[in-house]
Amino acid sequence: MKLKKIIAVAMASTMMLAMTACGNTPAPAADNTTTDTPAADNTAAPAADNTAADATAAAAQDADAAAATVGEGGNIGVCIYKFDDAFMTTYRNALQEILEGKGYTVTVMDGKNDQAEQNNQINNFIAQGVDALIINPVMTSAADQIIATVKDAGVPTVLINREPTAEQMGVYDKLVYVGCDARQSGTMQGELILDTANKGDINGDGKVSYIMIQGDPENIDAQYRTEFSVKALTDAGMEVEELDLQRGDWDRNKGQEIAQNDLAKFGDEIEVVFCNNDDMAIGALQAIQAAGRTVNEDIYLVGVDALDAALNEVANGNMTGTVLNDAQGQAQGAVDAMEALLGGKTYAEGEQSIYVDYVKVTPDNVSNFQ
Ligand code: BGC
Repeated sequence: MKLKKIIAVAMASTMMLAMTACGNTPAPAADNTTTDTPAADNTAAPAADNTAADATAAAAQDADAAAATVGEGGNIGVCIYKFDDAFMTTYRNALQEILEGKGYTVTVMDGKNDQAEQNNQINNFIAQGVDALIINPVMTSAADQIIATVKDAGVPTVLINREPTAEQMGVYDKLVYVGCDARQSGTMQGELILDTANKGDINGDGKVSYIMIQGDPENIDAQYRTEFSVKALTDAGMEVEELDLQRGDWDRNKGQEIAQNDLAKFGDEIEVVFCNNDDMAIGALQAIQAAGRTVNEDIYLVGVDALDAALNEVANGNMTGTVLNDAQGQAQGAVDAMEALLGGKTYAEGEQSIYVDYVKVTPDNVSNFQ
């Protein structure tokens, strides 16, 4: 009963805000995408604006105490696998900004890369009676348990960034995954290499010799990017030689260490450094430069995410390219899906993954992303 009212009020505010947006109200702070990251505890949403408040008041015709407390648009719990992740920091800031901009009360928790910790956070959110959850699981392998928990509590849930299987999601119809198809980003990384003058075969020996610096191998993004980047080369008829494949867990320092060791071991044999994400690529770049190698002359380097630092390096010619992992688009998609769920939409098995496209970033188009 209370929940329904919360949803009705939230929807009324949303509708009114959407109508406002269709009018002449400019989008909030378009030039300032990074917000202060609030502490993991509780962040009260700023009062949306007077329009939203009016809408709320109008919608709650039979206003009582319950309705009065939900004028902000409902309580949303957000679980991030760990705050100390460059890409997920951009993502969670975007998510928080969009949700708060819509007048929701948002609490964002740091899972600290510990699934047990995140399970507690999810249980606490449920005990607090949140209206919806947005969860970036710590472990993809914990999906069954997470889904069973939110299903049991009946909380509409959007999973992000770590995709479970269609079968796993199929057990709960108020659950959606919003993310990207990592096969696409892997393929684009391969294409970035194929687009170079010698298709990655710098020394002309008939094969592309590469090292692969992988993210957390438990993560489907890491698995697919690893597979499909190389597949793009072999599909194009290139011969490949894998000199090394190591897990760098999405981490800049590990990317630097792996590249440093491999450069010492394989030297000029390395023609391509594939990194499953940009943070590791930035680390690898430090090692490449320290070894006296020059990207795009005697070695190629590609990442994924389009972090600001990587965009700068692509523009400077210190990275061959990257692939935009659209944090803003995914955050918007997650909020849209959450609102659809709050509005009563349900999803059948096989229709629960919503994808946002990746985009190839090269020196030619990098300025569009900066
Ligand atoms: C991003 C990585 C990030 C990972 C976290 C991936 O999609 O490319 O940068 O570390 O998600 O799960």
